[in-house]
Amino acid sequence: MKKVLRYLGILLLVLIVLVGLFASYISIRGIPAYTAEKVELHVDATKARLAQGQKLASMLCRNCHLDANTNKFTGRLLSEAPQFGVIYSRNITNDKAHGIGNWTDGQLAYLLRTGIKPDGSYLPPYMPKLVHLSDEDLYSVIAFLRSGHAWVEADNTVQPDTKPSFLTKFLTNIKAMKPFPYPKQPIAAPDTTDRVAWGRYIALGQLECFSCHSRDFAKNDYFNPEKSPGFFGGGNELFNTAGKKIVSLNITMDKNTGIGNWSEDDFIRAVKYGQVPNGGDPLREPMQPYAQLTDNEVRAIWAYLKTVPVQQHKVERSQ
Ligand code: HEC
Ligand code: HEC
Repeated sequence: MKKVLRYLGILLLVLIVLVGLFASYISIRGIPAYTAEKVELHVDATKARLAQGQKLASMLCRNCHLDANTNKFTGRLLSEAPQFGVIYSRNITNDKAHGIGNWTDGQLAYLLRTGIKPDGSYLPPYMPKLVHLSDEDLYSVIAFLRSGHAWVEADNTVQPDTKPSFLTKFLTNIKAMKPFPYPKQPIAAPDTTDRVAWGRYIALGQLECFSCHSRDFAKNDYFNPEKSPGFFGGGNELFNTAGKKIVSLNITMDKNTGIGNWSEDDFIRAVKYGQVPNGGDPLREPMQPYAQLTDNEVRAIWAYLKTVPVQQHKVERSQ
């Protein structure tokens, strides 16, 4: 008996040492790097693309990359997801040395789809990957980034380096977070005459509403969004820029815990202007008012949400 205990003790010690070694390996190694593939792409800046690109960038990139000091996309400290570390978004203006002025269209497309930068470094989910965005929408974003718009005008601001947390390093090392493959097939724009398909595209592929509105960023399935735990059932703990916790809400059609009692117009007012029914307090960041969406786009999201399985999940709105 004594012998067994001794062996068990030794085994435990070995395990502790191994876990310790693994942990220090991960924290020293950091986020693993990959190899960036070369993508041949030249995006023509048509008028339609510039307009769509500005609309998309204002909903998809501005939130994280707009710097209040410069009023340009020169990056800022992101306090919304502190579990991932001390994260700074970067300068993505047209500055050749400090921004993306020297990146090719192919390099931008590759990063935005996969998460891999030209030097092989990998950006975890705190920089979204537009895996389901249509090619045309992606080209629009790229055309906009290259435009003369004030947000992306060259600027030499430099942000401090990001310091990923142990959790981020751990999840990227065990490949729970990893780059997405660059799509081999073209990604077509949605059929806008099919309301549900269109709404699904906006809510999952384009604006990724599900990413905040499901249970936990770290558990989301970005490739198969519907498989994310607690899909659209809310409860994801987010933080506003002042570091205050604001939990995301259940926006499935459950009548008791979701928005099943709302009208379509209630939904439009909430999504576009942050107004909630019955004079409740307006919605706060990190939920942004999607004022750039047309009413028809929001109606399409509504039509799609009606097809999403309801989640009976009570989430108290943050005070
Ligand atoms: C949720 C916040 C967030 C959103 C939204 C976001 N980004 Fe980022 N982005 C980041 C962070 C954070 C980094 C840098 C991470 C790091 O350095 O580890 C980054 C890095 C980048 C880089 C790499 C720049 C460099 O020099 O390393 C590019 C390019 C970029 N983002 C473009 C975009 C575009 C285009 C959009 C909109 C389609 C966008 N981002 C939306 C957070 C975001
Ligand atoms: C960056 C994270 C984030 C994204 C992306 C996001 N939301 Fe939200 N949303 C929130 C948070 C947080 C709240 C709660 C805000 C509060 O308590 O003031 C919220 C609240 C809401 C509400 C109010 C629900 C209620 O019961 O009052 C609706 C409706 C909503 N979001 C719809 C959407 C739609 C549609 C999209 C995509 C177009 C979207 N959200 C994208 C974070 C997000």
